[in-house]
Amino acid sequence: MGSCKVPYSVLLLYFVIGTFFVSQRFAIGVDTNITAQLLVNASDAAGRPIPDTLFGIFFEEINHAGAGGLWAELVSNRGFEAGGPNVPSNIDPWSIIGSESSLIVSTDRSSLFERNKVALKMEVLCDSEGTNICPVGGVGVYNPGFWGMNIQNGKTYKVVLYVRSSGAINVSVSLTDSNGLQTLATANIIASASDVSDWMKVEVLLEAKASNPKSRLQLTTTIAGVIWFDQVSVMPLDTYKGHGFRSDLVEMLTDLKPRFLRFPGGCFVEGEWLRNAFRWKASIGPWEERPGHFGDVWMYWTDDGLGYYEFLQLAEDLDTLPIWVFNNGVSHNDQVDTSSVMPFVQEALDGIEFARGDPNSTWGSIRAAMGHPEPFDLRYVAIGNEDCGKKNYRGNYLVFHSAITQAYPDIKMITNCDGSSQQLDHPADFYDFHIYTSANDLYSKAHRFDHTSRNGPKAFVSEYAVTGTDAGTGSLLAGLAEAAFLIGIEKNSDIVEMASYAPLFVNANDRRWNPDAIVFNSSQLYGTPSYWVQCFFRESSGATILDTTLQTNTSLIASAITWQDSNDGNNYLRIKIVNFGGDKVNLTIDVGGLDPNSIQLSGSTKTVLTSGNLKDENSFNQPKKVTPTKTLLENAGTEMNVILLPHSFTSFDLLKESSIIRTTGTDSSSRASF
Ligand code: AHR
Repeated sequence: MGSCKVPYSVLLLYFVIGTFFVSQRFAIGVDTNITAQLLVNASDAAGRPIPDTLFGIFFEEINHAGAGGLWAELVSNRGFEAGGPNVPSNIDPWSIIGSESSLIVSTDRSSLFERNKVALKMEVLCDSEGTNICPVGGVGVYNPGFWGMNIQNGKTYKVVLYVRSSGAINVSVSLTDSNGLQTLATANIIASASDVSDWMKVEVLLEAKASNPKSRLQLTTTIAGVIWFDQVSVMPLDTYKGHGFRSDLVEMLTDLKPRFLRFPGGCFVEGEWLRNAFRWKASIGPWEERPGHFGDVWMYWTDDGLGYYEFLQLAEDLDTLPIWVFNNGVSHNDQVDTSSVMPFVQEALDGIEFARGDPNSTWGSIRAAMGHPEPFDLRYVAIGNEDCGKKNYRGNYLVFHSAITQAYPDIKMITNCDGSSQQLDHPADFYDFHIYTSANDLYSKAHRFDHTSRNGPKAFVSEYAVTGTDAGTGSLLAGLAEAAFLIGIEKNSDIVEMASYAPLFVNANDRRWNPDAIVFNSSQLYGTPSYWVQCFFRESSGATILDTTLQTNTSLIASAITWQDSNDGNNYLRIKIVNFGGDKVNLTIDVGGLDPNSIQLSGSTKTVLTSGNLKDENSFNQPKKVTPTKTLLENAGTEMNVILLPHSFTSFDLLKESSIIRTTGTDSSSRASF
């Protein structure tokens, strides 16, 4: 649902209908005949290469983006650790099937796994014979996953669990609807007392016979006895590249062609308190042995199935560069003194060795044992997140910087201190720049980097978004202002080398932050206008930016790039324009430096993002209300008169006749041989 690629035929129809209604609505009182002119200098000599890394994505474990989102694990609190290490503990969201007279459920610390000792204990009082007969279907526990498990007819799910008992067992493992009334798939674990006198690992494949997006997992029995469960997992077999990522969500990411993946936060990296910050060493190795942790900034538990290794794997699967943000001994409320920060520095060095060390190295060998002997392509690390103002940041930073430079001289380091307004007082390759603001302010920030010093570190705009009432949960208005801001970044890409929107994902059942680029629940998803805006820039990284001049006194902002489609080798000139005003604009586009015959008519297109109301949003009911529409551009050429709809973002993609080469400064053109 809603990738950057929209079927062309559908688009055409959608556009015809959409254009009619949109233009009808906007036509009322806005036909003010505003004119403007855009000059594009498309001569080869006038272009400047855009960094290959310019546009990427920032994944944070926020809004259940990972646990209950991108990470396809269906069981929530699979190890019963979310209630804390002390017992008895809260087993939420696990619940009991059966009454007190038939079953007593508790937790104890008898787990097989040292780092997560809590296990579930089920004392079954009823039986299949005698005076206390178990109800039909048995008694036991169920897990609803993350607001329901999306079980799909014909798909196979791998259940793994650990079980122990005082006697023989016969346990039904079932996927059912949300009330347990309809069984979608089931199997029985039958084992003798000796098999389960100690912990036994069980693996079951369940093929669903029906679909239900709000399913649950049930573990039930009709035999009296005591049974312990621990580390209960349900994974669909069908995940992205078989690596455990939810395919539909990853496809939304691949469609953006991201050039980097910044992870895993954000504030998630810092923690409200250091004891609750994400620590990479606790997130690697066999999933059963991971302790999990409570992220106290976004206030939810993660089993850390999506750990440091999986993030690196995700970057590789997306064919993008990982950018690892690690904790520098600073959280929101406490910080390590610089004199004692060395263990944190060592932790970061170990993390780099884990990612790219030799398979025989201490940490590289653990990566290899997890299935990736080849190093991951880690070239960038960020020392902390939004910590520049903290008392110990600079001191700690310098210790990290010096140790990493010594051990890994090629690693590029990102400081939290903004170097765009004043010179940094410490060494860095990049400075991090975050901006969350109103639509008007972000629109004006299209010029934020126009006069920034070109000396010193490059800028990494790793978090930007319109927030607050202008944005709601993802409005057209927010998208338009962000489009203008990104055009500014594209134009300033000699100093801004990387940019990413934030946050990337929200599970609609746990909105911790609005707005977000991609909204999902267990089975549905859609892109907000901010997502669709990013699609317009997916060809920009590694393209060539051209000089553009707008002659207008209205609210327009424009850029032009040339880029090559790696699929077919075709060359395009893409002109992007935001019309931030409420008036229709008659725009003349003049492309200089190109032979007039060098634009092909067939294959040139126009793509428009707009809607009837600035505050329009997409939703599960109307996932495509605000999405781009693409049509053939009938008057494609080096001189074009076009109409820009009010409150719109338009891109004109002119297919260049690649066989005609223009010699800069002359009128001559020649045919190159194929
Ligand atoms: O993107 C949401 C949060 O905004 C990030 O965690 C943090 O870096 C910023 O304050």
